[in-house]
Amino acid sequence: MIRFEHVTKKYRGTNKPALSDVDFEVQRGEFVFLVGASGSGKSSCLRLILREDSPSEGRVVVLGRDLHTLSTRKVPYFRRHIGSVFQDFRLLPNKTVFQNVAFTLQVIGASRAFIQQAVPEVLVLVGLDGKQKRFPHELSGGEQQRVAIARALVNRPQILLADEPTGNLDPATSIDIMQLLARINESGTTVVMATHEAGFVDQMKRRVIELRGGVMVRDDRHGGYGDRSSLPSLAPQQEKGAAAAAALTAVLELQREIAASPVEPVPAMEEAVTDAVAASAVAAAVATAPEIPPVTAQVPIVELDGLHLDDLGVAERLGLASDEDEVGPTS
Ligand SMILES: Nc1ncnc2c1ncn2[C@@H]1O[C@H](COP(=O)(O)OP(=O)(O)OP(=O)(O)O)[C@@H](O)[C@H]1O
Ligand SMILES: [Mg+2]
Repeated sequence: MIRFEHVTKKYRGTNKPALSDVDFEVQRGEFVFLVGASGSGKSSCLRLILREDSPSEGRVVVLGRDLHTLSTRKVPYFRRHIGSVFQDFRLLPNKTVFQNVAFTLQVIGASRAFIQQAVPEVLVLVGLDGKQKRFPHELSGGEQQRVAIARALVNRPQILLADEPTGNLDPATSIDIMQLLARINESGTTVVMATHEAGFVDQMKRRVIELRGGVMVRDDRHGGYGDRSSLPSLAPQQEKGAAAAAALTAVLELQREIAASPVEPVPAMEEAVTDAVAASAVAAAVATAPEIPPVTAQVPIVELDGLHLDDLGVAERLGLASDEDEVGPTS
């Protein structure tokens, strides 16, 4: 799903490469920690995966695409398969929670009906049900990061990249966010997370790739930094919203399968799938977990015209500027 083949990255004007001969492969559904001291090359790796930068030597292959041969105009379409979360959240300050999440779908031309369905669902998934109308400054740091995660997920990415997502959060809130990321991974999304937080890495017992001065010094399938005994559990919890998460996952999986054989324009496909599948998937999930109330929020959609598409480069990232459709296989 993600392959680095002897990747070296040298930034212009620097003597020492930021990455030297880095070679690894991440399989579909894995959760991988990218660890290392400040300046060791973690963010550089994530930027290469997103094709925000290119290697000086070697090859990066993501979702079956050799990023060196991916034309610039196809990059925004490629990036639709990858969600990103950052330390500083990067929310639009003048938009509500709902609008921040809906924005991603609006710029790719999703139907109003689909947005009305998908946004509340993903907000339930990240534990923000009932906060749709809040603005970012009315939320805690942890809640803001949940909005950013919802925004990254609503476009149904196959890969979620997180660059120090808990870097600005207190320890308890960081644990909540880690549990959320673990749950997202459990539902099938490949997660690559750069972090300094040794405690999480120890506790999660997931694969650890360690960089030191741009060199990959460790690739440990069940890695950790050290003693785990005093750490709180970070296993994904069965919590409120689990049924909704299961329902959403079922819908998204089917949509992905249909999207892999592009016979219809995306908005029409989304509406059809939403109508045909969401009801049964949600009903099934609710039937197995009757304590979860159905999503009833009716939040007005903000028209695209009122949004500043240049904000945060989202339009460019999602390919709004062009009417070209999806490209190539996605795995
Ligand atoms: N655009 C750039 N131009 C020149 N050098 C850069 C650039 N971006 C990063 N570097 C250098 O590349 C090296 C790796 O940086 P990178 O940001 O990947 O590290 P990191 O592991 O993410 O660090 P941190 O934990 O502080 O975020 C550093 O020495 C950094 O100074
Ligand atoms: Mg970094």
